[in-house]
Amino acid sequence: MRKLAAGNWKMNGTAGSVVELQALIAAHPMPGCEMLICPPATLVQQMASVARGSALRIGGQDCHPKPSGAHTGDVSAPMLRDAGASHVIVGHSERRADHGETDALVRAKAEAALAAGLVAVVCIGETEGERDAGRTLAVVGSQLDGSLPAGATAANLVVAYEPVWAIGTGRTPTLAEIAEVHEFLRNRLQALIGAEARGVRLLYGGSVKPSNAAEIFAVPQVDGALVGGASLKAADFGAIVAALSA
Ligand code: PGA
Repeated sequence: MRKLAAGNWKMNGTAGSVVELQALIAAHPMPGCEMLICPPATLVQQMASVARGSALRIGGQDCHPKPSGAHTGDVSAPMLRDAGASHVIVGHSERRADHGETDALVRAKAEAALAAGLVAVVCIGETEGERDAGRTLAVVGSQLDGSLPAGATAANLVVAYEPVWAIGTGRTPTLAEIAEVHEFLRNRLQALIGAEARGVRLLYGGSVKPSNAAEIFAVPQVDGALVGGASLKAADFGAIVAALSA
């Protein structure tokens, strides 16, 4: 399986940020892993045109479950595809928290992504309170069950395990804790979609940076990372790409 280094720019970036993309492409013309950046929707088209012909893929950060219609402010999966995206993140914890997104909605969004020919990057993860209460596996298991799109395969689904308390905080679970969750998710996926589960990339996300990337990538069943803050600078994200390619 080809590993995946994915960057989530969140609500950051303007036209000038294209220089970071150009630097990333120049530094990693033939990376040993897949490389994806998900800029804000305003930049998808421009960045997809800059990345065309390179090893860098461009994705959205969210999509509406419907392909079109009266949904002011929303962006659909076919629109992202039309703009040059190949992937879309769905169910990020910031959207689950800020916009009250449920597993059922995340699943509908993921199904819209698949219908549009996009790869769905489905995010799940426990809060700190849930971890402290010993509920991590129960929480991520039910999120996976509820958010998984019908028709998921190794080619169209990526799952990102992102503990909410590790996002943007500089804190990460121990390597043993990451291993426990990833092994659990691999088995759960196997029960849900059978043999395809072996090829689904399971990403870890939450405070991944150049200094901890290599040790996290050495954890069994970790097939890459979803990176927020450290994806904004080509040098930092490039170092993570290099760690995953090693
Ligand atoms: P972070 O964000 O790398 O800044 O912790 C990860 C994410 O939210 O995808």
